[in-house]
Amino acid sequence: MIDQLYRKAILTVAERKPVENLVRARGWGLAQRFVAGEDIPSALSAVQELAKDGIQGNLDLLGEFIESPADCTRFADNVIRLLDAAHEAGITPYVSIKLSSVGQGKDDAGTDLGLKNARRIITKAKEYGGFVCLDMEDHPRTDITLEQFRVLVGEFGNKHVGTVLQSYLFRSLKDRESLDDLKPNLRIVKGAYLEPETVAFKDKSDVDANYRRLVYQNMQAGNYTNVATHDETIIDDVKRFVLAHGIERDSFEFQMLYGIRRDLQKELAQEGYRVRAYIPYGRDWYAYFSRRIAETPRNAVFVARGMLKG
Ligand code: FDA
Repeated sequence: MIDQLYRKAILTVAERKPVENLVRARGWGLAQRFVAGEDIPSALSAVQELAKDGIQGNLDLLGEFIESPADCTRFADNVIRLLDAAHEAGITPYVSIKLSSVGQGKDDAGTDLGLKNARRIITKAKEYGGFVCLDMEDHPRTDITLEQFRVLVGEFGNKHVGTVLQSYLFRSLKDRESLDDLKPNLRIVKGAYLEPETVAFKDKSDVDANYRRLVYQNMQAGNYTNVATHDETIIDDVKRFVLAHGIERDSFEFQMLYGIRRDLQKELAQEGYRVRAYIPYGRDWYAYFSRRIAETPRNAVFVARGMLKG
């Protein structure tokens, strides 16, 4: 409950234009704790740096609330540029995209522009043996994202495209089950958006309990599972669960965000688990940065101190 109130307060303040202007002007130095850089070379060097510790990368070109169809297509072109650059650098590309950024819900001569651009991105990723994860956004987009995921798995197979389920949503257990016929690659997260009580659990204990259920059921269904959390208690429980149920280490991985619990990421990699860090980069870092602050008061203190130092 307190977590929800805190998140609501931060995300509401973050939406105010003067706050955004102030943070954009003075906060880049601080944002770099969570964002690898503003361009492709910085993102790729973050991947190479993490690889030294046995941690793989999941690249995310930042960009939300992209309005015009032309900008959405330009954004997709930039993701394709990233795939090309990663391939040229000898990195098998693994990227995440938000379908809203590439035009989801916008009509393009009878086809959804987001689906059309996602096809272009996945075609390129597949050519390089890579992978595209469709991030999950706020709940009005859940249905369309899952529908489009189904279409894309049908076209490209489940080895090159995956998506995300959020344990704070009441619906996610049913959604997970409904995808089983695809043998999907699923990332399980708690959820980062401000959602109404009508659709999402408000108590952290319910969100955490649902998180475990989603992970365990997805593993037992034989689907590849991305356990995306920094929650050490859950990570320890998952380690015990996989041991007890004979789940192979190559059928799941732990995922965390760039700049968060690097110690734990390294430790898990050293223990022989697959670990992947979600590496955001790009100029449009404000919304991503706000969500990270909204996740824990510790980050708000970190930012407030940094802004005061100026
Ligand atoms: P929880 O919030 O319970 O935190 C557990 C512990 O982790 C805390 O006690 C704290 O120590 C640490 N921690 C968590 N967040 C931190 C932070 N920002 N800074 C410092 N410490 C922190 N969400 C979504 O809605 N759609 C998506 O597609 C994705 N994708 C995604 C990919 C990956 C790889 C990750 C790790 C997360 C996402 N998320 C996401 C975000 C997710 O929904 C959630 O908001 C964060 O992961 C924080 O929740 P935790 O599971 O870490 O647990």
